Amino acid sequence: RGEYGAPLALAGPREAREVTASFNIMQSRLARYLDDQRRMLASINHDLRSLVTTLRLRAELIDDEPLRAAMQRTLRDMAAMIEESLRFARDDAIDEPSVDMDIGLLLRELVADQRAQGRDVALCEPKEPALACRCRPLALKRALTNLVENAVRYGGGARIRYARKRQAGRHPHLTIAIEDDGPGIAPEQLENVFKPFYRLDAVRHPETGGVGLGLAIARSCVEAHGGQLVLENREGRGLRALVTLPV
Ligand SMILES: Nc1ncnc2c1ncn2[C@@H]1O[C@H](COP(=O)(O)OP(=O)(O)OP(=O)(O)O)[C@@H](O)[C@H]1O
Ligand SMILES: [Mg+2]
Repeated sequence: RGEYGAPLALAGPREAREVTASFNIMQSRLARYLDDQRRMLASINHDLRSLVTTLRLRAELIDDEPLRAAMQRTLRDMAAMIEESLRFARDDAIDEPSVDMDIGLLLRELVADQRAQGRDVALCEPKEPALACRCRPLALKRALTNLVENAVRYGGGARIRYARKRQAGRHPHLTIAIEDDGPGIAPEQLENVFKPFYRLDAVRHPETGGVGLGLAIARSCVEAHGGQLVLENREGRGLRALVTLPV
């Protein structure tokens, strides 16, 4: 579920032991590589943050009022991007352990948090409301919150459905769908919006605020859990974000 397990014990016939040993070497290399990348991302962003702060102070001194306002806007956006990237690197580094979690409970908490902020978010309970899933609860909740916040921000509100699916030829899995009644996304953009910092309405609606990392973070978290995240337009109107997780 996104963590690296302990090295596998060397046992069995010689061939099996050799394969296990190479697997362990590969796993530790991969873990080290990802760790280095994370550290680099964090340190670049950390340095950028101080530079942007310095620039913001200097921009205060510009006499030309429209130029000063424009520079401050750009610098504020840069600061927001840097903060998000730092938060991403930090969250990733926490290494929250996986636990068996009741997904219904996690979703009810999420909905309560959203409603407390005055947002229109509804949860449709399935016939089997207690569904256990092995996950990193904080990380998964943050990923799902990103999807719900998009539905609220771009579609006016969110409806969440979840269920356990048993399909012939597939392992049993859990689906969580987050739906809205907003404008949806043009079919040719459905994959692009997962790219970091990619926003469709940045020019048209700068006031909606985001930096364009929500979906990238959500997908990387869901995939670290061995699952999938896709977006699809609903029949009629609105968007559906569909999370599939192994159980
Ligand atoms: N439910 C939705 N309906 C319509 N468009 C959406 C929806 N969800 C996402 N989008 C589009 O996809 C883009 C990328 O979404 P993403 O969540 O990655 O970033 P963001 O919401 O702009 O910023 P943040 O980092 O704060 O989440 C959005 O800017 C928006 O244009
Ligand atoms: Mg978002």
